[in-house]
Amino acid sequence: MPFYQDLTDENAAIQFWKYNEDDVFDHTDLINPEDFAKVEHYHPKKLIEYLMIRQMLKMLKPDHKILYKTIGQPYLFPKDAFISISHSYPFAALAISQKRVGIDMERIQPKIVRVKHKFLNEAELSWTETENEVELLTVIWAVKEALYKLHPSKLWSLKKHYEVEKFSLNALSEICCRVFDMDFEDAYTARVTKMEDYYFAVVEEDHSLNFRIPDTSPF
Ligand SMILES: CC(C)(COP(=O)(O)OP(=O)(O)OC[C@H]1O[C@@H](n2cnc3c(N)ncnc32)[C@H](O)[C@@H]1OP(=O)(O)O)[C@@H](O)C(=O)NCCC(=O)NCCS
Repeated sequence: MPFYQDLTDENAAIQFWKYNEDDVFDHTDLINPEDFAKVEHYHPKKLIEYLMIRQMLKMLKPDHKILYKTIGQPYLFPKDAFISISHSYPFAALAISQKRVGIDMERIQPKIVRVKHKFLNEAELSWTETENEVELLTVIWAVKEALYKLHPSKLWSLKKHYEVEKFSLNALSEICCRVFDMDFEDAYTARVTKMEDYYFAVVEEDHSLNFRIPDTSPF
């Protein structure tokens, strides 16, 4: 079985793959002709991540391909659903939904403490200074990156415009979070799962508090 876990819920198909050396990919079938020049120089691990994502897409939506907006945000063609992608060799994850969705996986590493001031606001800094700091920071990082993928903008920073409310590591299935600026606030509930030495966050658009998401670039 290629799949490591199926985290599909009522809104989104969410699949998570862990590569193993027996996995075989049909390169000709999986690589978009327009991507040949791009992937030709990929590191072998990055190519495997690319292939895992396309193999999962083939199983879920066989007649679709992944294209990109200018800011790097992926979208499906034909555009009949939203997608989000995350990978960190040997893992890769793909979400497909009728609503906007963002997913992100982050490895638990102590060095995250060194960069916490770059992505945490004052409130988040104060409640994360505990013996579980590394785990809390990793969850927040994954949630903010998933939120960013659902609700991206080059003008916003994870520190100033993306916020995660205080949560406990024993209750990761409903973490309140939001994206905001002077004019608006969009609230979400993130679902986080621990897998080996990673945290994996899923944020889906299905809450009544969401007012608008600017479409940041043409495609
Ligand atoms: C783009 C970004 C979200 C990628 O996250 P990551 O943890 O580095 O890598 P992941 O493997 O989880 O995600 C990569 C995928 O994100 C997707 N992605 C890239 N840019 C995106 C965007 N603007 N919106 C939505 N999804 C995007 C792509 O599908 C990409 O995979 P692919 O190119 O193979 O298709 C991240 O690099 C980023 O820019 N974060 C927010 C900005 C920021 O403020 N960062 C630093 C704060 S200190």
